[in-house]
Amino acid sequence: MQQKKVHIMTFGCQMNVSDSEKITALLRTIDYEPVASIGEADMVIVNTCSVRAKAEERIYGILLTMKGELKNNPDLLIGVGGCVAQQEGERLLKKIPHLGFVFGTHNLHLLPQIVRQAETGKRTCETAFIDDGSRFDLSPDYDSGLAITRSITIMQGCDNFCSYCIVPYVRGREVSRQKSDILEEIQKVSAGGVREVTLLGQNVNSYGTKSGDGSDFARLIRDVAKIPGIERIRFMTSHPKDLSAPLVECYSDVEKLCSHIHLPVQSGSDRILALMNRGYTRSDYIGKIEKLKLIRRDLLVTSDIIVGFPGETEEDFQDSLSLMTTVGYSDTYSFVYSPRPETKAAKMPDNASKGEKSERLKRLFALQKNLTKSVHDSYVGKRVEVLVEGESKKTGQVYGRTSGNRTVNFSGSSSLIGTLQRPLIIKNLQNSLLGELE
Ligand code: SAH
Ligand code: SF4
Ligand code: F3S
Repeated sequence: MQQKKVHIMTFGCQMNVSDSEKITALLRTIDYEPVASIGEADMVIVNTCSVRAKAEERIYGILLTMKGELKNNPDLLIGVGGCVAQQEGERLLKKIPHLGFVFGTHNLHLLPQIVRQAETGKRTCETAFIDDGSRFDLSPDYDSGLAITRSITIMQGCDNFCSYCIVPYVRGREVSRQKSDILEEIQKVSAGGVREVTLLGQNVNSYGTKSGDGSDFARLIRDVAKIPGIERIRFMTSHPKDLSAPLVECYSDVEKLCSHIHLPVQSGSDRILALMNRGYTRSDYIGKIEKLKLIRRDLLVTSDIIVGFPGETEEDFQDSLSLMTTVGYSDTYSFVYSPRPETKAAKMPDNASKGEKSERLKRLFALQKNLTKSVHDSYVGKRVEVLVEGESKKTGQVYGRTSGNRTVNFSGSSSLIGTLQRPLIIKNLQNSLLGELE
């Protein structure tokens, strides 16, 4: 069989990045080699995100521009996967005549067959939910080499149904992966040079509670910490309502667990949190952060905040700003609320104008800039441990992250990659820190 070439475009969260790796590995089994540009490709796969309308619109834009690519290469096969594929299914094939095939978030394993059919001109759409966890058995693409840090999927899906969120509809119900499989994969990547793992799932705190072998998330962290070669453990994303006492306890005695937690709050207003169906109040949230910070003094916290949820008043928004200051986030990932199909919030009355919402977002960004500045300033003059991940864009420098997940660049050679170093932080560069080793 002649080698063909595939170009994979990945949008959205880490889960999609991880899925794209599995897609690469699966396509190798039918003789497709990954390439970095569309120009070289026989096939393009667009792995999509539909968390906000803009993300979805972008996908349509990209698919339209591919008409141009087809002029240069009329045989180019185009496939769409991921969350927009799951959401739209057959409609995508109808709307976009030059599309070859569509596969949903639970159908990666069918890709070799789907592609073979598409090669013969048969347009296929597979989006059935398969909830037996077999999709975890897909091997990631180890052939492209391993980085120092790696995400390891431990569960998929979400049962929380926050009122604004499309994820439960496009990713399906929560399913946890068997612990023995997770540990085996981490042992394997550790032997291949990985030093930091991020345990990945839409809702990692509920790992093992609804499926798997009954082991909970805290137990999993403790077992991962025993794997030789793994120096650091992170996780993404945890839900504040499920942040359990055993998990908090991990921060006191699992040294490899990094001093960072991404704990999305979404809003600082109790009224909005209730409308969002988040299952906690502002004071529950602050109480949990305080507990964590008592146990880990250097803990840095990041968050997601939605601006302009239906019915959000200026006062509600002020509550989000004041919560940000109370917690002192090192970073927040914020977007204006976007109505999504099927979600409850999409039917809620919404009074604030687009202009008001984007003006609120600007104010939030300005506050976050100051909060990040003060976190970074507090590093200056101190030595901090950095796991070196690679060479910086600037020659003669390497980069890595602190346990608190802040990026540091400092002079050094590639021989440092994969080691823990303690540079002195000499400058706050806004988005990163500058250090020196001697
Ligand atoms: N499971 C994770 C994140 C899921 S989506 C969690 O619970 O935190 C990532 C982020 O996208 C969310 O945290 C939220 O801030 C944002 N988001 C989700 N739906 C959105 C919508 N309809 N409009 C704007 N932002 C949204
Ligand atoms: Fe979406 Fe909420 Fe589930 Fe996160 S917890 S994926 S925001 S429904
Ligand atoms: Fe987007 Fe799907 Fe992830 S909607 S954020 S790619 S789970």
